[in-house]
Amino acid sequence: MEKEIYLAAGCFWGAEHFLRQIDGVLSTQVGFANGNTPNPSYEQVYTDTTGYAETVHVRYDPTRVSLLFLLRMYFKAIDPTSLNRQGNDHGTRYRTGIYYTTPHDLPFIRFALDEEATHHSKPLCVEVEPLANFYPAEEYHQNYLINNPDGYCHLPVQLFDYARNNRDLDTAHKTEQYQLLLRQIDALCQGETDTLAIRANTCALLHETFHFWWTGYYRVENNELLLGPFQGPVACMHIPFGAGVCGTAWKEKRTLLVPDVEQFPGHIACSAASRSEIVVPVRVDGTIVAVLDIDSQHLATFDHCDSYWLEQIATR
Ligand code: SME
Repeated sequence: MEKEIYLAAGCFWGAEHFLRQIDGVLSTQVGFANGNTPNPSYEQVYTDTTGYAETVHVRYDPTRVSLLFLLRMYFKAIDPTSLNRQGNDHGTRYRTGIYYTTPHDLPFIRFALDEEATHHSKPLCVEVEPLANFYPAEEYHQNYLINNPDGYCHLPVQLFDYARNNRDLDTAHKTEQYQLLLRQIDALCQGETDTLAIRANTCALLHETFHFWWTGYYRVENNELLLGPFQGPVACMHIPFGAGVCGTAWKEKRTLLVPDVEQFPGHIACSAASRSEIVVPVRVDGTIVAVLDIDSQHLATFDHCDSYWLEQIATR
């Protein structure tokens, strides 16, 4: 599985070198983002009149590294309170920015920014925008510090060791747990054809492994969602099509990650203790027949690592 994010962190030579060290980053490419002239050259961007930010396109595997971890690392490499200046480099081309290609990343970006803001007394001035455009920089800018080990770098070299030596252990651990869980489900349900029995044990295994607040299924029956099986406190029994997180996941035919349930319009609060949620559609021959719904007592418990593995589980 692969996801992407575009990060502007001052001079892209050092920024790319830093980001490519992080475990789970699959590839990096430097270029110019969110400016207003087609096909800009480095010289044009250098005039600081094109609106472009020097940016690193980061492709990563969300089952190895979360967006939250990537952004926490990113904040180690920038001064997020400095406007249009990083190190000795200044100009709008050196602004800091997080440019996303899917609005579904936005809650995670906001979460990371809010967390980072608590470490500063000045307001953050990191730009957060959808990616409007991106043009790869000329070839000699790619992997610049690998090809020019003594080249200019606005970041201290210790930061590169820091990036190499830190792993997103939470995501790595979660992936190991899900892999084990999948093997358990397959072993337990080998030869079993009754979906109710399979789902009941899947809930139990998920709940026992991760100690979630609530783990369960809602089944599509008579054009609504009907409760069961589940583990956890009592829950509402009927959810209409398009209602709440569950009904929306069914309607939109996609997994929904809700880092903060209070921010989800129409969220159905079965329990006041639930703070974040993930809902994964279960399909048979392409038709949604149920949803797998998991609630956590903590904010932002679920990310694309969970959606990847829970989507595998939902095929069982
Ligand atoms: N929160 C869900 C309702 C089900 S409970 O979480 C168990 C929703 O908004 O659809």
